[in-house]
Amino acid sequence: MTNATTRPASDYPPGGDAFRHRHLTGIAQLTPWEISYILDAAEQWVDLNRSGAAKHDDALAGLTIINAFFENSTRTLLSFEIAGKRLGADVVNMHAAQSSVKKGETLIDTAMTLNAMRADAIVIRHSASGAVQLIADKVDCPVLNAGDGRHEHPTQALLDALTIRRRLGKVEGLTIAICGDVLHSRVARSNILALTLLGNEVRVVAPPTLIPPAMERMHVATFTDMDEGIAGADVVMMLRLQNERMDGAYLPSAREYHALYGLTPQRLEKAKPDAIVMHPGPMNRGVEIDSSVADDPARSTITEQVEMGVAVRMACLDILTRRTRKVPGWN
Ligand code: CP
Repeated sequence: MTNATTRPASDYPPGGDAFRHRHLTGIAQLTPWEISYILDAAEQWVDLNRSGAAKHDDALAGLTIINAFFENSTRTLLSFEIAGKRLGADVVNMHAAQSSVKKGETLIDTAMTLNAMRADAIVIRHSASGAVQLIADKVDCPVLNAGDGRHEHPTQALLDALTIRRRLGKVEGLTIAICGDVLHSRVARSNILALTLLGNEVRVVAPPTLIPPAMERMHVATFTDMDEGIAGADVVMMLRLQNERMDGAYLPSAREYHALYGLTPQRLEKAKPDAIVMHPGPMNRGVEIDSSVADDPARSTITEQVEMGVAVRMACLDILTRRTRKVPGWN
């Protein structure tokens, strides 16, 4: 598919000047141009993954990637594992529940242990905002943020941007409503950063208790009325209610939340007729989204988001290890 925001390779500076970061800790560190560079790089992996014939590339052969997940995950953990393996790397997963973290080892000591094993890249998910940066500052190899607390989930925002670009032909000049538990969502934060940087109008739609303070500083409009918030939107991005991060009464009940903020077929009619529906997963069906919407292939991109997750993570692993692999031009 031709994408309006895809640039020809000749538009990028050569080699390492195309992407100067050692780590991927957040979208906040990236320019719009760098985001497009990753999305363009991911396109080739979409094609390879769909080809069914050559499932592997040996670009990362001989490299070891450690996935260190201190929080549960299905999509992110497995897609980073598949991404590394499809590029020929050795991938090992560290689950915190089975690690020495359970014996009281500190995060820094765990990071130093992983570093001593001479990993070529470390992918980290942690419940504390800033934990990934802390580790990135201590280790010698590239670190990729797989979600840290309420802070950022950069590869989720990148895969969401790629999904939008492929479905709608562009990821600029769109009206995008991000709806639900914005307060606790690192997905919302990374998407707001990415989608505003790329030149979209981003709206946040949530009950007053689930809207973070000072949203205007992130250049978004806030709505507490769902029908108003999604009116005329090209993209309706639903968020999971993150009950595990709620330490108080943010909502009267799941039933009332669904009545006011759940995405039903009737409510979706307020958006543009061809609006797409997104959800990062895992979903609370019947709470933030009805199954009839989530499972409608004409509107829902939820499984496509998962597919794009593998391609985007292949692109990120490839780009961030180019200096280690001494790819010409990447010093
Ligand atoms: N979207 C997402 O991060 O899902 P997982 O928690 O399953 O990785």
